[in-house]
Amino acid sequence: MNAVVSRLVAALCHPFTIDDYVALASPLWSSGEVRARMVEVKRETHDVATLVLRPNARWRGHRAGQHVALTVEVRGVRRTRFFSIASGEVAEDGTIELTVKARPGGEITPSLISGALRGAIVTLSQASGSFVLPDVMPERTLLLSGGSGITPVMSMLRTLPQAGARDEVTFVTWARSEADVIYREELTRLAREAGPKARVLVRLGPFDAAALAEIVPDFETWDTWACGPAPFLEAVGAAFEARDPAAGERLRTERFSLDRGADTSGENEVTFTRSDRRARGGGSLLGLAERSGLTPETGCRMGICRTCTCRKISGTTRDLRTGALSTDSDVDVQLCVSEPVGPVALDL
Ligand SMILES: Cc1cc2nc3c(=O)[nH]c(=O)nc-3n(C[C@H](O)[C@H](O)[C@H](O)COP(=O)(O)OP(=O)(O)OC[C@H]3O[C@@H](n4cnc5c(N)ncnc54)[C@H](O)[C@@H]3O)c2cc1C
Ligand code: FES
Repeated sequence: MNAVVSRLVAALCHPFTIDDYVALASPLWSSGEVRARMVEVKRETHDVATLVLRPNARWRGHRAGQHVALTVEVRGVRRTRFFSIASGEVAEDGTIELTVKARPGGEITPSLISGALRGAIVTLSQASGSFVLPDVMPERTLLLSGGSGITPVMSMLRTLPQAGARDEVTFVTWARSEADVIYREELTRLAREAGPKARVLVRLGPFDAAALAEIVPDFETWDTWACGPAPFLEAVGAAFEARDPAAGERLRTERFSLDRGADTSGENEVTFTRSDRRARGGGSLLGLAERSGLTPETGCRMGICRTCTCRKISGTTRDLRTGALSTDSDVDVQLCVSEPVGPVALDL
């Protein structure tokens, strides 16, 4: 059916769209969006599970390292959250896997890992993101991760044999404790089966530059992909920088959030005028709003989806990604990627 007819039928069917009627008979069918059935929820650790999703024919596949926006309905409310695809680029059974860590007090992730949504139909975006392997693989590839940041680099590790990696590959993941090691059995098997030029290693505790240097003495000369929490990525970045200020060009990173948690540094005072609240400190405006008891709408927390856009009434903010200052009054800012520079008033 062409788009015009589809829109006309949709209008005549108001308030239901043609999609809604067809979905009653075939829930995976959609004229526009990618829908997927959650066919399995596999427990990985006490607070992490892997969701196995079977997308419909609209799914265009992914490159290892990319992420998707997942929209699910939890307790009657549709919410969108972002997750890296953990499975390799090629899956013979047509499924993709997302590995999710439950955030304490999170709206979505505790339900996702509980298994309560097994069998549910969810909506996906197409895969996106530039944290990917190059078309021509480098001679030496270093994959580093901390905690749940293992997901995009695990997708790379799973894809490397198909990507034609013939040369050296070293994969090191840091987990808080033995009980927090994600994909433990698979990593043990891959470590055992790795050829002479490949290494798959697990380390416990925080990232340690000395431990990395023991594994890869000249790590700053390797093409590196790293993903993990902000303190992990800062420590990795500092280790590369200390060896060679130019090594940053070979280090690609992926972040799940720009907020560093409770940050009471700084004298910035943010006034939330509509709710008559105030917060003092540093970090993102989103973090400051949440710490003062507000619950603004969010999605990616990384400046991708614009869900958190809010009117700035006055004051100066800095973009956490680029460092650019916004000094104008009465403009929109994205709460998750903006920090206050001095007093700021928001229409929130
Ligand atoms: C590109 C990208 C890829 C991602 N890939 C993965 C992945 O593969 N696996 C995975 O488990 N997570 C991943 N995330 C993080 C994931 O999106 C969040 O954990 C999720 O949105 C939390 O949803 P929630 O509704 O449970 O929590 P919310 O209700 O939104 O938040 C609950 C609490 O958790 C905190 N929180 C929420 N998100 C984050 C975060 N990203 N970092 C630190 N604190 C946070 C908030 O401060 C809040 O207090 C990714 C994020 C991005 C942007
Ligand atoms: S939550 Fe997505 S842009 Fe801020």
